[in-house]
Amino acid sequence: MRKMNLIVAMDTEGGIGKNGGLPWRIKKDMQHFAAVTKKVNYPSKRNAVLMGRKCWESIPESRRPLAGRLNIVLSRQLTEHTSENLIIAKSFESVSKLLAEPQYCDSIETIWNIGGAEIYDIALRDDLVEEIYLTRIFKNFDADVYLKSLDFGNMEKVEPSENLSENSETFEENGIRFEFSKWRIITSH
Ligand SMILES: NC(=O)c1ccc[n+]([C@@H]2O[C@H](COP(=O)([O-])OP(=O)(O)OC[C@H]3O[C@@H](n4cnc5c(N)ncnc54)[C@H](OP(=O)(O)O)[C@@H]3O)[C@@H](O)[C@H]2O)c1
Repeated sequence: MRKMNLIVAMDTEGGIGKNGGLPWRIKKDMQHFAAVTKKVNYPSKRNAVLMGRKCWESIPESRRPLAGRLNIVLSRQLTEHTSENLIIAKSFESVSKLLAEPQYCDSIETIWNIGGAEIYDIALRDDLVEEIYLTRIFKNFDADVYLKSLDFGNMEKVEPSENLSENSETFEENGIRFEFSKWRIITSH
């Protein structure tokens, strides 16, 4: 399987989801997510966003598949599907095989793991993650889905780059403070 980047927003307790959706509504983080996952160095290419079935279902029908990216959904119960902007696959292995085909191998620049917890956990466990784009939210949202497999002892913070709001200042929206940072996995397990 090709290495991928991971993007996640997490509260002070590692909470990422509540009642099937995000526990918060932060417009700036949504814009950050869209900008990061769409950004390509080669305009002829696009990125893929890899997600679990529950994450897919949390996106309003009118907004999915997420525009400008190849959406890949993992599910053992949904019917397999392949079209221009959407792949529904039964396993990481079948996604890996598909992405190795020339049509994707050459045209997909970065694979973004966009969650939820089950899909993050597998990629982190199997050493498939290269960089992590993290939004830290400085509040406890009493979530019902947590990301516990991020090991900060195994990650180093990447210095700010010019373009994105990586390693940012702290922002505040609707009384919620948050910041963006970028990390790299330093060793494999
Ligand atoms: N804060 C954030 O950045 C962020 C990001 C993403 C999601 N979220 C939140 O996280 C929550 C969802 O996370 P979650 O962990 O409950 O679910 P999830 O990871 O989105 O989806 C889990 C589903 O993925 C499928 N799946 C898992 N492993 C698989 C495998 N190896 N092969 C094939 N299919 C596999 C299964 O679908 P089937 O049951 O169909 O077989 C499983 O039920 C939501 O609240 C969402 O809003 C938060």
